[in-house]
Amino acid sequence: MRILYNIYHSKGIFLVWHQWCLYYAAGVCLLLSPVRSDDACPSSCICARDAGTVTCLPDGEETELPGDMPEWTSTLILKGRNISTLPRGALTINGTKLVMMTLSLSYNGIQVIEPYAFLGLPRLHLLDLSHNQLEFISARAFHGLPELRSLYLNYSILPPAIAHLSGALSAENLRNLHRLELAGNGLKSIPLERLDMYSLHALVLTDNSIENIERENITNLYQERRLRVYLSLNPFRCNCELEAFYYWLKNSSQCPDAGRLLCSQPEGKSGIPVEKLRSEDVDCMSENLEAVSYVFLGIVLALIGVVFLMVLYLNRRGIKRWLNNIREACRDQMEVYHYRYEQDSDPRLANVAV
Ligand SMILES: *[C@@H]1O[C@H](CO)[C@@H](O)[C@H](O)[C@H]1NC(C)=O
Ligand SMILES: *[C@@H]1O[C@H](CO)[C@@H](O)[C@H](O)[C@H]1NC(C)=O
Ligand SMILES: *[C@@H]1O[C@H](CO)[C@@H](O)[C@H](O)[C@H]1NC(C)=O
Ligand SMILES: *[C@@H]1O[C@H](CO)[C@@H](O)[C@H](O)[C@H]1NC(C)=O
Ligand SMILES: *[C@@H]1O[C@H](CO)[C@@H](O)[C@H](O)[C@H]1NC(C)=O
Repeated sequence: MRILYNIYHSKGIFLVWHQWCLYYAAGVCLLLSPVRSDDACPSSCICARDAGTVTCLPDGEETELPGDMPEWTSTLILKGRNISTLPRGALTINGTKLVMMTLSLSYNGIQVIEPYAFLGLPRLHLLDLSHNQLEFISARAFHGLPELRSLYLNYSILPPAIAHLSGALSAENLRNLHRLELAGNGLKSIPLERLDMYSLHALVLTDNSIENIERENITNLYQERRLRVYLSLNPFRCNCELEAFYYWLKNSSQCPDAGRLLCSQPEGKSGIPVEKLRSEDVDCMSENLEAVSYVFLGIVLALIGVVFLMVLYLNRRGIKRWLNNIREACRDQMEVYHYRYEQDSDPRLANVAV
């Protein structure tokens, strides 16, 4: 009996001990485990779960996007990595969907954005791709972003990518876009084919290479009454072709920085605020009239010249005679002088005088 009890008891102790051992091992395993659970912060990133923010700053020679993001990520800031290409679904794995709303990928040396790069981010509101070196943007780069409201592409687009830009931005599903910033990209025109397909409220085109906005585009701008277009730091060419743009600036109040737009051409008007131009300066009629009047003056002068030459030509005999007369008159005069001189120097006459 006793022996039996002892056996039972020790077995019990053994069982309890065994359980503890398992718990302990599991705990150690959890603490040391390299296997991450869904909530883990990607290596080399800082996570603030309460705010939903993941921040990944430069980490040596890191050229990769961090692995899968925690599902709760609502803001991801990734900076200073050398990511040359954003591939399809760059931030998600196997088509998982993230609730992420803000994605900042500025200063990452991104050169290529492949089709569907932002797949799996259906709730994204703000995408910042400023200060990269984009050479190629796929026409389907921004597909799958139906909620996108703000897109920042400041100082990011190299000349080869400018041609792709309007294609990429014409994606049907960017129709909720409210704010588009394209400062500092060497653009020469508005890189949008149509304005009525977005809900744009702000279009920032400062510090580009825009010399003028064509009449046709101005007509479209008038139609988008809620839209504000920022245009300072562009090299406007202040000749009469600026007329439609000039009146749009004055009439529409759609350009909040209108007072800071300056002419850079022609020479004589460089530095003058576009708004301070007089209406004659942008009036092709008066410019043409001026040109016409110069041409007219030229013609009149030429005619006078021709008439003068004709007169000379028709009178060539008379003129020859006249010239001969003059020459003869001169010669007579000279002879008279000569004669007098000879008389003056005659010694006999000199004696008489004394
Ligand atoms: C970025 O990576 C590319 C190769 O992927 C390399 O040629 C380039 O020098 C790197 N740039 C920087 C600033 O590290
Ligand atoms: C992604 O899906 C493929 C099959 O579709 C599977 O083999 C792979 O393990 C998945 N990867 C991850 C990280 O879930
Ligand atoms: C460019 O983008 C940044 C966001 O990174 C924004 O804060 C800034 O106002 C933008 N505009 C200009 C002109 O830089
Ligand atoms: C601006 O005008 C050009 C043609 O001159 C046209 O192709 C383009 O779609 C227009 N863009 C807007 C936004 O009106
Ligand atoms: C508005 O623009 C038109 C030309 O399109 C011009 O005749 C008119 O004077 C402008 N109105 C104002 C208030 O500047």
